[in-house]
Amino acid sequence: MNRCTVLVLAAGQGTRMRSRLPKVLHPLAGRPLLWHILQAVRGLRPERIVVVTGFQAEAVEQSLAAPDLHWVRQYERKGTGHAVQCALPMLQGLTGELLILNGDHPLITTPILEKLLHHHREQGVALTVLSTLLDNPSGYGRVVRNAQGEILRIVEHKDATAEERALREVNSGFYCVSLDRLPAWVGALGNQNAQNEYYLPDILPMAIASGGASALRFEDAQALSGVNDRAQLAQLERVYRDRRIVHWMNQGVSFVDPDSCWVAADVVIGMDTVIEPHVILGPGTAVGEGCAIGPYCHIQESVIGADCRILPFSHLDGAEIEADCDIGPYARLRPGSRLARKVKVGNFCEIKKSTIGAGSKVNHLSYIGDAQVGSGVNVGAGTITCNYDGVHKHRTVIGDHVFVGSDVQFVAPVQVGTGATIGAGTTVTKDVPADSLAISRSHQTHVMGWSEKRKPRS
Ligand code: UD1
Ligand code: CA
Repeated sequence: MNRCTVLVLAAGQGTRMRSRLPKVLHPLAGRPLLWHILQAVRGLRPERIVVVTGFQAEAVEQSLAAPDLHWVRQYERKGTGHAVQCALPMLQGLTGELLILNGDHPLITTPILEKLLHHHREQGVALTVLSTLLDNPSGYGRVVRNAQGEILRIVEHKDATAEERALREVNSGFYCVSLDRLPAWVGALGNQNAQNEYYLPDILPMAIASGGASALRFEDAQALSGVNDRAQLAQLERVYRDRRIVHWMNQGVSFVDPDSCWVAADVVIGMDTVIEPHVILGPGTAVGEGCAIGPYCHIQESVIGADCRILPFSHLDGAEIEADCDIGPYARLRPGSRLARKVKVGNFCEIKKSTIGAGSKVNHLSYIGDAQVGSGVNVGAGTITCNYDGVHKHRTVIGDHVFVGSDVQFVAPVQVGTGATIGAGTTVTKDVPADSLAISRSHQTHVMGWSEKRKPRS
């Protein structure tokens, strides 16, 4: 089959969002609305993808920058028809079909776009509009048909009569059009309407008059829903979340209480992993097979190896952990935490920009920052790397099989040789030789009878 071309309209501000952020950059499942549409579009392997930007164009182009995208600017927002006019130079020389998509319908999928394209080709028309039936069609353009059920035109909500507003069939904002006809049609658009805009749907009567038009009525209205305000965005967030979690369950992932979890669009989860209630898996997260993610964990931008156990209330951001690790409860892994196999990080421990070697344990109440910890190391309760002198950050390097007693401070920069032992309560300020004992406590003395003297006479 010939490849089609795709044009996405994303120049609008999205006034009804009441936001400084352009609508198409508002996130759904942690990724911009426009990202979702581009994912569906890429599945078609189109000849070319052209995106029209306008409101905060630089921000939109930057956040979605990719080599397969061609950007066009619409400097003034004069409507969807005008946006298409602005894109015409980018479409010159291309033939066949053009899919035109509104940039604010994030649940669209590749199969739906394929259906639209197939239908268009089957019908042999010059324009096909994707429509759907809505219980509450308010705000959408209505599809007007004649008594025989043939489509006549699309009337925008603001221009519609009361009778037309009662129509439930709406324009979903997806079109398939023959590229050779489009320039003449959009060139002939006027703006005599309630919004003084050049409406793209107004090409419909022109297509009916020359070349023929059809409407494909699609049954899954939810998949075609648009986002115009934040309430609709929240609704779609829920729909998308449910669909995504069902997808992962079908891949062999268990969700004990799916309704309480949230999973970003780009998350990957391995088979036989169990996700307990109230877990948030944010963008950039990959969880391996056979993991257990306990209640109330929040994980983002992190990679978790197979068979790890993340106990309740742990927070992972920018962490990479290999297989078979035990994290939490109440652990915090900050960006740059790299844990090798079988590492344990227990309750109330914070790790930042540090590597921890295989089988090492940081089990209780510790801060490990800017450190390199070898393998088989035991870090005692309350150990702190003093990595910051108020101006610069310094590194702590701890060799393999070091035993660190409780309540130790490493005043960085400092190095500890392989196999050394650090006595409890030690403040390490100098490098520690391998296999030695470092201890910096003062000797304990006893003042006899001290308590008796201190007690008030009763
Ligand atoms: C549009 C349709 C309406 C349809 C609805 C489906 C028109 C005139 N109306 O209405 O029939 O039911 O979508 O959601 O097309 N945009 C630009 N440049 C502009 C104006 C808009 O690029 O000058 C982009 C927006 O960024 C957005 C898309 O086009 O992604 C649709 O614009 P929007 O203002 O949301 O149109 P609706 O009023 O929803
Ligand atoms: Ca819209």
